[in-house]
Amino acid sequence: MLNIGICGVGKYGINLLDYLTSIKNTCPLNIRAFCAQSEETIKNISIKYGIKGYFNTESMLSDNKLNVVIVATPDYAHDDSILTAIDNKCHVFIEKPMTMNPASAYNILINAAQKNVLICIDFHKRYDPDYIALRNCISEGKIGHPLYAHIHMEDKIEVPTSWINWASKTSPIWFLGTHYFDLLRHLTNKEVISVFAKGQKTILINKGINTYDAVQCLLEFNDGFTASVNVGWVLPNGFEAIVRQGLHIVGTMGAVTIDSQDRVVRFFSDKASYTQNNHFILTENKNGIVKYSGYCFEPLKQFIGDLLAGKKVVSGANAYDGYKATEIAYAVQQSLDKGLPITLQE
Ligand SMILES: NC(=O)c1ccc[n+]([C@@H]2O[C@H](COP(=O)([O-])OP(=O)(O)OC[C@H]3O[C@@H](n4cnc5c(N)ncnc54)[C@H](O)[C@@H]3O)[C@@H](O)[C@H]2O)c1
Repeated sequence: MLNIGICGVGKYGINLLDYLTSIKNTCPLNIRAFCAQSEETIKNISIKYGIKGYFNTESMLSDNKLNVVIVATPDYAHDDSILTAIDNKCHVFIEKPMTMNPASAYNILINAAQKNVLICIDFHKRYDPDYIALRNCISEGKIGHPLYAHIHMEDKIEVPTSWINWASKTSPIWFLGTHYFDLLRHLTNKEVISVFAKGQKTILINKGINTYDAVQCLLEFNDGFTASVNVGWVLPNGFEAIVRQGLHIVGTMGAVTIDSQDRVVRFFSDKASYTQNNHFILTENKNGIVKYSGYCFEPLKQFIGDLLAGKKVVSGANAYDGYKATEIAYAVQQSLDKGLPITLQE
């Protein structure tokens, strides 16, 4: 039986809590407890989901016998919850980025190995059907040897200004870029050896949020493959979806373009039109029973499956993958700070 606690029940943690709630009657798991930082959230979530809330991971763990902890706190606040969970011999599912510091990520990796617990990072782009198809295409040699790629992922400005109140403590590199740093490693089985980045700080800083509006990174991989990863979160709120994203990759024998925007359903009304990514989250309500599907939930679903099957390694992104994405993001940040290319250690 999996006894699960969730640290962080904000915008993203709630998705995971809803998913677990929807499968708890058909899967051997109990959702025992959660953590949040506001008294109001603790009260509301406790009433709605019938589980007990705590202000921190330590008190949640000392009061409940848990064997799985989900960490969905803000990017800068993952480390302590992860280490406390590992110390209590819990397997840990972590929202991306694993941490914002490579030394801390490495420490987590070592601690988890010593305590014999599994770590899985929620890099859900690995489960997007279009990227699964692209990975197959590359591994079957259909585009030959990958030469270069262009990637863009841009959120509406609503995300750093209204969705989260901690944007100044992270950046588009950590919040968005880490998804693609992981995906590129996953698609190509190659490692990044150097990065060079430039960024803009104009719009958000004028709103009192001291972080980058956008960052353009050039990643060089160990066989000469390069990828430009362009991330930002200042798209006007009039854009038709919360995020605009896509990838184009060129190899010696072919190329693939993935338009992650126009694969979607477009809704119209007198007031607005908007698009919806039904690959990401699909909700079906059958006689009051809600079923969730989509690549948003696949990493957690697979992690739960791994734990129930008694697997000794995770099928999804593991602690090493989390460490590598953090290492790349940290190098990008250093490149921005120093205005220089940064070489990563082999
Ligand atoms: N996988 C994805 O595509 C995706 C999408 C959005 C966010 N995220 C990630 O999910 C995480 C949470 O993001 P969010 O948008 O839900 O943020 P949020 O601000 O909406 O929610 C954060 C939650 O953590 C709680 N919290 C804050 N500090 C805490 C602490 N020290 N201990 C315990 N709880 C604490 C807050 O009370 C709140 O419940 C971030 O790491 C973010 O990057 C992932």
